Amino acid sequence: MRASANLQRSAERLKSLIDDLFVFTRTRLGDTLPIEPTQQDFRKICRGAVDEVRAARPDAQIAVQTTGELGGIWDAGRLNQLVINLVTNAVQHGCGAVRLEVTRDDEQIVLAVSNGGPPIPARALPTLFDPLTRAAPLSGHKDASSGAGLGLYICRGIAHAHRGTIGVASDESGTVFTVRTPRLPEPTQ
Ligand SMILES: Nc1ncnc2c1ncn2[C@@H]1O[C@H](COP(=O)(O)OP(=O)(O)O)[C@@H](O)[C@H]1O
Ligand SMILES: [Mg+2]
Repeated sequence: MRASANLQRSAERLKSLIDDLFVFTRTRLGDTLPIEPTQQDFRKICRGAVDEVRAARPDAQIAVQTTGELGGIWDAGRLNQLVINLVTNAVQHGCGAVRLEVTRDDEQIVLAVSNGGPPIPARALPTLFDPLTRAAPLSGHKDASSGAGLGLYICRGIAHAHRGTIGVASDESGTVFTVRTPRLPEPTQ
């Protein structure tokens, strides 16, 4: 039982790493990230992503709150990857419970992922979404599952590919990453 749980955990981490490397390679070649948008439900995307993080980190406390009609046209695989990256970061770099909230603001979906813990240093914020950037040096206790410093770069690439935005606010009261993405694709030109 334990061996199969460990195997599933390793498989989830490997999948995330491969997904991230794929996006990194595509965007570093100068492409905008290709997406395949279809009709989706943001609530379902979030639940699927959180289930995957829970499989990889069974001890994590993750609360999900979604409100309103959350349908839209998106690339479900890429948004799943974005949510996994943000929630994994909150579990990995924050302290205590993680909160994921999704609401609708007119024709946009607003996703907020929050965690407690020490704030991200202000000097790190301007380059936080750049590739291979870490706010704090790797400390000895981090396990081998620490990311490669690509996660937020990939989140930004996925948000932009959907004509969305990503931002962060971090202070003593906690850290919140907010993604805003339109519900519908760009009108045809
Ligand atoms: N939710 C968070 N809370 C605190 N710090 C964070 C959070 N998310 C990201 N960070 C900081 O931003 C850095 C970059 O994140 P990311 O690009 O995902 O790289 P990685 O997780 O591989 O280190 C992290 O190393 C960490 O210092
Ligand atoms: Mg990360």
